[in-house]
Amino acid sequence: MSKGTYYVTTPIYYPSDKLHIGHAYTTVAADTIAKYKAMQGYETMFLTGSDEHGQKIQRKALEAGKEPKEYVDEIVASFKALWQKLGIDYDYFIRTTEERHIKVVQAIFQKLYDQGDIYKGKYEGWYCTPCETFWTDRQVAEQEEKLCPDCGREIEWVEEESYFFRLSKYADRLLQHIKDNPAFIQPETRRNEMVSFIESGLEDLSVSRTTFDWGIPVPFDPDHVIYVWIDALSNYITAIGYETEEENFQKYWPADLHLVGKDILRFHTIIWPIVLMALDLPLPKQVFGHGWLLTKTGKMSKSKGNVVDPVVLIEDFGVDAIRYYLLREVAFGADGAYSTEALIQRINSDLANDLGNLLNRTISMVNKYFGGVIPAAGPEEEVDLDLKNSASLMLAKVEENMEALKYTVALEELWTFIRRSNKYIDQTTPWILARDEEQKERLATVLYNLVEALRIIAGTLKPFMVKTPYLMGEQLGIEDLIRETKWEDLKVWGQVKAGVKVKQGDPIFPRIDLEEYFAEVEKRKEKQAPGEKETAKGKETETVKEKDLISYDEFSKVEIRVAEVLEAEKIEGSNKLLKLQVDLGTEKRQLVAGIGQHYQGEDLIGKKILMVANLQPAKIFGVESNGMILAASNDEGKLVITTVDQDISNGSRVK
Ligand code: MSP
Repeated sequence: MSKGTYYVTTPIYYPSDKLHIGHAYTTVAADTIAKYKAMQGYETMFLTGSDEHGQKIQRKALEAGKEPKEYVDEIVASFKALWQKLGIDYDYFIRTTEERHIKVVQAIFQKLYDQGDIYKGKYEGWYCTPCETFWTDRQVAEQEEKLCPDCGREIEWVEEESYFFRLSKYADRLLQHIKDNPAFIQPETRRNEMVSFIESGLEDLSVSRTTFDWGIPVPFDPDHVIYVWIDALSNYITAIGYETEEENFQKYWPADLHLVGKDILRFHTIIWPIVLMALDLPLPKQVFGHGWLLTKTGKMSKSKGNVVDPVVLIEDFGVDAIRYYLLREVAFGADGAYSTEALIQRINSDLANDLGNLLNRTISMVNKYFGGVIPAAGPEEEVDLDLKNSASLMLAKVEENMEALKYTVALEELWTFIRRSNKYIDQTTPWILARDEEQKERLATVLYNLVEALRIIAGTLKPFMVKTPYLMGEQLGIEDLIRETKWEDLKVWGQVKAGVKVKQGDPIFPRIDLEEYFAEVEKRKEKQAPGEKETAKGKETETVKEKDLISYDEFSKVEIRVAEVLEAEKIEGSNKLLKLQVDLGTEKRQLVAGIGQHYQGEDLIGKKILMVANLQPAKIFGVESNGMILAASNDEGKLVITTVDQDISNGSRVK
């Protein structure tokens, strides 16, 4: 019987790069709660997706010499592949480039405009491209160097016509809602931060852009595209059929939980609720802002070279060890550091030792004393009752902690029960019982109880792990039972049928030698020719090069030509972009190049550069660009343009 619906979301991730372990963290947490609620009998809806518009993505695509849609298609495919590897069971993957989403976002914008909540004005201020955020002069005034108050990167001065959303009009209503609904923003410390932010005064929000065109056009003014956050946040309602599938929308909205990192909590607890209020829709029941997963060297970033790739970890340690580690190691809500040492430590102690041994010992004894057939239980003794009670207590505590998203504590409770079950073996000493034929029934009871305890453990693990519960089931001969187990079934002792045959298998979590692992990683680094990837176990050697090879025909589609720079100047309002006029032999072209921090305009004049001449035109920062200059750059941030070795006529083709 359905207990009602449960709707949980992750942020929709930017397809500007591959995802890292931090993104996996949010998604695994959301997936776990969705699996847990489904086991409890809720009709769940679990949404994730990709946030595909915006200037940053347009620039990235340009740098990669691709059309934005082509560029994001490839990255989105890598998102889906990662989620599959991580055992993520989303119900829907929304892409903001979907037709239905685009239409509904336009309808939302139109409605807000028609009712006077959006109005046209002029924006002057600082803009952070990576964050896609405007800052007022006041917000950045104290700093000597103009940097983004959020991410610390460079910002640009911009002046443009823009549509504004009347955030200020709804501030009081929002504050009241937050006060009346303590569960709305969690954890509590973050709620207080949000309240102070709102109390310090909300300014109307600029919700359109004219400086680039990779976005959803404002329906009644197509020179403007809709601000990426209005586009992105709306995904939570467009995906479930707002304005398109009324019945489905009514069924799931309001969402039970938006799970987000603390970095984007403000968007979700201020802008989003105000959009919903303006649309006259109920607000989500909870927005939970979890902490950051850091590394020993701080925040993960490409330039620091400390980005942890979940795909490599899954290949090295298996999906369940990673899922377990992510949810067990750091209290959900707090910041915490990822470390491979801690991961290996957890695998060895919690997974191989506590859980793996319990399974192994139990199956070995069923084999040894009962020819591999699970015996029926006989009369119950005190110690058996205690084991049963510990199971009920554990389930109650897991429930309580899952409600509060305290994954760490929920797992701790489960492990207390696993250790208690190991202790049960030491208390009942089956090897001594086995020596006495008269104790056969007692021995049968002990082993039956151990198998039951393992069934409950495997069932409780189902939301957290995706392979282990079934591997345990297979070895215990109860795979189907585990597969069908609902949460309530865990509360009823005695579900395993006597007479089932067990099947000893490989250890579910082999121990990992820390030193050996790091030695292998070192070796891997030395061996790793560019394009080659090897897992720690050295089993699979995959040549990325082979996968990435392109045919000559594909290459020959790219028209690279020599061009001479005639003029080069900075684009006003940007310190990264230069506008170039070049001579391509048969024609003159205008290009925009993101090399302003590495070259002055005058350095380039007269230079013969290489450019992609058949790239579709794009508008960057409001300036038309008809081609792309080629440049080499490295991780240290150095960038040099490509030129020719000797003089050659303008327009010569490079092949
Ligand atoms: N596209 C926006 C979200 C729009 S939602 C309507 C965005 N995307 S993102 O790709 O940058 O993803 C941000 C989210 O990824 C964070 O909120 C968090 O959930 C997750 N994380 C990214 N790095 C992280 C860590 N290092 N640690 C924990 N979570 C992190 O923002």
